[in-house]
Amino acid sequence: MSIEIIPTGAPAGAEIRGVDLAQPLDDATFAAVENAYNAHGVIFFRDQNITPEQQVAFSRRFGEIEFNIFGERWSVPGAPEIVVVSNVTEDGRPIGIRRAGENWHSDMCYAPAPPRGTMLYALEIPDLHGLTVGDTEFASAAAAWDALPAPLRQRIDGRQAIFDFSSRKRAFPLTQAERDRYPPVRHPIVRTHAWTGRKCLYVMRDDCVGIEGVETEEAEALIAALADHIVKPAFIYRHQWQAGDLLMWDNCSVQHRAIQDYDMPLRRLMHRTTMGGAVPV
Ligand SMILES: [Fe+2]
Repeated sequence: MSIEIIPTGAPAGAEIRGVDLAQPLDDATFAAVENAYNAHGVIFFRDQNITPEQQVAFSRRFGEIEFNIFGERWSVPGAPEIVVVSNVTEDGRPIGIRRAGENWHSDMCYAPAPPRGTMLYALEIPDLHGLTVGDTEFASAAAAWDALPAPLRQRIDGRQAIFDFSSRKRAFPLTQAERDRYPPVRHPIVRTHAWTGRKCLYVMRDDCVGIEGVETEEAEALIAALADHIVKPAFIYRHQWQAGDLLMWDNCSVQHRAIQDYDMPLRRLMHRTTMGGAVPV
């Protein structure tokens, strides 16, 4: 295979061409893919045609698969590692998680060791008279850190925020067991990327409920200001999906949100896998 890496031109994102994910990747090709993933925070491959088993096998090369707390409700039959993300209802019942992640976030930041990354394989993508809908936006938390003024960097570097799973607004209520699984945790609000060494802002408006050593009101204002900074237009790549896309992002160096600008009868169906990570530093 001759692999080609084409950066999007935004601070995050690159398309990878010349790779067929239905075939096993040799070590050199995988190393090139992994380097692009670390460097760009988001990578995608167009026109893929893969089975759930192939997606699981490819995901595993980046780390052990995380079983998402909601995956138990919505996994692919026969492939518990894969979560169905979809707006489709069949016989009046949803076939997957719908309206997932409409607000800016980093996946499972409320976990003690949040996942390294998340992968989506697009099976059905809505088309509105040739216009794309249901895009996903990615914001580079590394570029956002780089752009901070020095006094603010000094003020926040080394501080920890409290991330509370129960605080986020959701489209469905949590069960008590789901609440109990993730008590509040502390993470650095400036993370160091495990592979590139780049510093990345790690602040989410919906999940961070305080900063250690900072008064509540000041902490809330700081969280809001930093969260708004990360998602400034200059740091964003907006992905327009095509059926057959396999896209993956890095949960340290980018945040993301789903644009919810479509509904049934337009169908959107994706298979998601989540790759395990380490305790943030
Ligand atoms: Fe997400």
